[in-house]
Amino acid sequence: MADLTVSDDRAIWEAKVERLWATRPSRWRDAWHELSRNKLALAGAVIVVFFTLAALVGPALAPYDYAKQVLSDNLLPPLSKGHLLGTDELGRDLLSRLLLGIRISLLVGLGTTAIALTVGTIVGMLAGYYRGWVDRVLNGFVELIWGFPLILIAVLLIGAIGPGLTGVVIAVGFVNWAGFARIVRGDVFALREKEFVAAARVLGKRDIEIMVRHLPRPPTQRPGVSRSEVALDVKGLRTTLFLRDGPVDVVRGVSFQLREGETLALVGESGCGKTMAALSVMRLLPDPPARVTGGDVLLGGKDIRALPEHEMRSLRGDAVSMVFQEPLTSLDPVFTVGDQIVEAITAHRRLSQREAREMAIEILKEVQIPSPEQRLGDYPHQLSGGMRQRVMIAMALVLDPKVLIADEPTTALDVTIQAQILDLIRSEQEQRRLAVLLITHNLAVVSQVADRVAVMYAGEIVEEAPASEVFADPRHPYTQGLLSSIPSAAGDRKHLYTIPGRVPDPRVLPPACLFAPRCPYALKRCWHEHPELEASDGHLLRCWNPQPFTALHAVEPGEVDLRAATSE
Ligand SMILES: Nc1ncnc2c1ncn2[C@@H]1O[C@H](COP(=O)(O)OP(=O)(O)O)[C@@H](O)[C@H]1O
Ligand code: SF4
Ligand SMILES: [Mg+2]
Repeated sequence: MADLTVSDDRAIWEAKVERLWATRPSRWRDAWHELSRNKLALAGAVIVVFFTLAALVGPALAPYDYAKQVLSDNLLPPLSKGHLLGTDELGRDLLSRLLLGIRISLLVGLGTTAIALTVGTIVGMLAGYYRGWVDRVLNGFVELIWGFPLILIAVLLIGAIGPGLTGVVIAVGFVNWAGFARIVRGDVFALREKEFVAAARVLGKRDIEIMVRHLPRPPTQRPGVSRSEVALDVKGLRTTLFLRDGPVDVVRGVSFQLREGETLALVGESGCGKTMAALSVMRLLPDPPARVTGGDVLLGGKDIRALPEHEMRSLRGDAVSMVFQEPLTSLDPVFTVGDQIVEAITAHRRLSQREAREMAIEILKEVQIPSPEQRLGDYPHQLSGGMRQRVMIAMALVLDPKVLIADEPTTALDVTIQAQILDLIRSEQEQRRLAVLLITHNLAVVSQVADRVAVMYAGEIVEEAPASEVFADPRHPYTQGLLSSIPSAAGDRKHLYTIPGRVPDPRVLPPACLFAPRCPYALKRCWHEHPELEASDGHLLRCWNPQPFTALHAVEPGEVDLRAATSE
């Protein structure tokens, strides 16, 4: 291998990527993989399969007829001759009745669930999608049904339809649909606000098509920092996804320190592991498949990785808070804004509802929400995107945490509102001496608020430096690429640079420098030796062959011939 050229290394890696993509698993295998990791769901599936098989073969195994009575043999105990489970008061064989009855029970169960699910989904979808009077009428009907004793309705229905299996299935199905309708209505309320729904409308799709095809979606040490100033200290954090193909690391030994009153921006393209790093700190990873497999997280000097969940829960919101990209998915659509802020307060503080409400009004004022008293009674969907993000920030700050993690807090907002939300985060941070970890893919956002910048690529930090340094003198080719791809404020860039290729799939990472396949300065060494993060002139840098910024900057798009540039 030693005498291979860079382009051979590259070809080997590309072939691996192609092989992986060619062997994508089928949906059935994916479904089986998911099921096999969830022990409870697996146990449920085993029970369902057992009873289904029993229903299929039961009639062939039943020794007697379902209704056959032998009055002289009544109330026989189990293990009696000819009657394994004994008999009932009319002398009917219990084993036979069980084997033949399973089929009926299963039919009733499947039939009633199918009816309840269908009616509930349609009603909930219509109410959540159209809102207004449609919602008022349908929701009023749902409330009415809930107000009646369900068993009474079922008995009345059976009386009207007549006895028999069909009557029972329709009656029980009908009394159960209201619960499904409520759940679906709440979900559709939130989903309807999403960009993909707006995009479908822009494309001229009809309401029915949006409801049927679009809505039913399944819902990743700096010198000179004194210890006392450090609010959050992350050391060698490793987060692993346990996937069907085996474990893959999506956060690979990430370390950073966040001081009181400073904003550290974690930047990188989508898929670099930024969110996984943040969720690891919060201990909110989706487990399975993700788990922290290495490193330490110190919050105010206290190691939080080993804390019991109830202690961690009391730290969340109180010591460290998080704001997400899309406030509509983090705000509960079925509760008012006021209820949600009050609940966040009373979960951590012993306060009366009135005191909590006053705190809620104060914090809404602080985040500049007009007429906060009235807004407390609003549901999330009644607020604009910018207002919802202000509410999320209010909720995150109401308990006065020391650390705020903001994951793409402005990505879902338009440019004017983005600037307002960034101003708000900046002013809150100064007032409260908050330590802010700002996660974004957008360097323009970083330039407005960050004190320091850590650039993340494929799960690793590749460069870290004060923000002014990163903008004036970026050293890592990836940082240079990111900077060359944003319009300059002076408007002196005729063409914007595009980093060729994309972030590697974490399952088939390049063998040494993870950026090598996209790097215009890659050397042979870059394909064989993994560069470490090392201090260099006030930067922390992970690169074998850093070049002055101007070199890349001067390259026009289309002029980057990657293969020519990568051969030595
Ligand atoms: N629940 C999940 N299951 C499988 N892979 C995931 C999951 N969440 C994230 N990933 C993968 O982890 C990597 C890092 O994702 P993420 O932290 O969301 O990136 P970022 O926030 O930088 O855009 C990506 O390759 C992504 O595909
Ligand atoms: S180590 Fe090599 S491939 Fe990686 S960024 Fe630096 S020059 Fe590019
Ligand atoms: Mg993310």
